[in-house]
Amino acid sequence: MPIDRMEVWQGDITTLRLDAIVNAANSRLAGGSGVDGAIHRAAGHDDLQAACRRIGHCPTGSAVITPGFRLPARFIIHTVGPVWQGGKQGEPELLRSCYSNSLTLAVQEGIRSIAFPAISCGVYGYPKDEAVAIAVQEVARCLDVLLMIERVVFACFDDDMAERYRQALAAG
Ligand code: APR
Repeated sequence: MPIDRMEVWQGDITTLRLDAIVNAANSRLAGGSGVDGAIHRAAGHDDLQAACRRIGHCPTGSAVITPGFRLPARFIIHTVGPVWQGGKQGEPELLRSCYSNSLTLAVQEGIRSIAFPAISCGVYGYPKDEAVAIAVQEVARCLDVLLMIERVVFACFDDDMAERYRQALAAG
């Protein structure tokens, strides 16, 4: 596992000075609560919504990019996680796609450092340990081939999530 390029960090993702932060958006790119709300507030709601309206829509599992506006991060990659419906509606594959599509888009834009929130682990109700395992495994798989990505930060809002990521990274 390319463990030296992955790290766990606890705090508000909007404060990170990286090339990009990832937003756990909805498919209408309409803004919301949770990390989406925090990113809209910190970036500047009107500028970010205008950019999102120009893009229009993002299917579940896909990713789109906007400027970071007032954020310290230069870009925001918006990805849409699956709503947990019991696990038999393709949720694991869709969640994996969020990570791989975000990182592929990042490379296309020359992004070298990026932070992910725990996609789908809040409002969308994905079981946390399963989501964390997917996040760590899929990012590791992508980093093996996307050598230009130097740093991936798993930004966790609380202790509990940070501990789950630490354990998943330690388990390899
Ligand atoms: N920084 C880092 N992590 C955060 C922050 C923040 N500022 N705010 C919340 N989180 C964490 C939550 O604690 C959770 O672990 O982000 C994780 C994802 O939770 P949600 O933001 O609820 O995202 P998700 O479950 O993917 O649901 C997406 O919620 O806000 C709406 O518009 C969004 O409809 C979409 C849905």
